[in-house]
Amino acid sequence: MSKEELEQVAAEVSVCPKCNLCKTRTKAVPGEGSASAAIMLIGEGPGYHEDKQGRPFVGAAGQFLDELLQHAGVKRAEVFITNVVKCRPPNNRDPLPEEIAACSGYLDRQIAAINPQVIVTLGRFSMQKFFPGANISSIHGKARKVNGRVVVPMYHPAAGLHDIQKRPIIVEDFKKVAVALAEAQRMAEPEKPKPDDDQPQQLSLFG
Ligand code: URA
Ligand code: SF4
Repeated sequence: MSKEELEQVAAEVSVCPKCNLCKTRTKAVPGEGSASAAIMLIGEGPGYHEDKQGRPFVGAAGQFLDELLQHAGVKRAEVFITNVVKCRPPNNRDPLPEEIAACSGYLDRQIAAINPQVIVTLGRFSMQKFFPGANISSIHGKARKVNGRVVVPMYHPAAGLHDIQKRPIIVEDFKKVAVALAEAQRMAEPEKPKPDDDQPQQLSLFG
């Protein structure tokens, strides 16, 4: 069911006329990964290489993202990767509010279809979807629950390419994704009886 919905979204995105970015794109980039991914990564928008190939995070930022996943012990197969806007903004300019709004229905449907345990926002634009008005430099790397789901806001991997001092911060933040996933999975488990529950005789000792 969720796989079909993801394919349906991808089919609609590939011919989508809903904002001006459709006029300049080469290929739309719907996103890719497992329909049952536990972790969903949301970037900003396709860059030069992504626009050419129709795949997310395949350029330099994507290489760094692969390294980050490796450091954190997370496999590509465990994640779904997409962006706030599915078509490349010309010259990699910031996506406009009306473009983000026009594209948000696709992202919402992808989130609903995958129902990931953890969402990682990469950069300011996807952060704003979950933490409106927040400042990335104060909340990066801090997992928070938003509408019952764990969301970890992170700097965009491209920030680590432009600013070498940010690299170790991003690497450390990313390791928290694996921790957040373990925590989310623990919280999702049904409550186990506490050890005391099977030892009523011990309780009687303390009257
Ligand atoms: N940067 C993004 O935000 N997304 C991509 O897919 C590639 C680079
Ligand atoms: Fe459609 Fe989104 Fe591409 Fe705009 S960016 S044309 S809304 S798929």
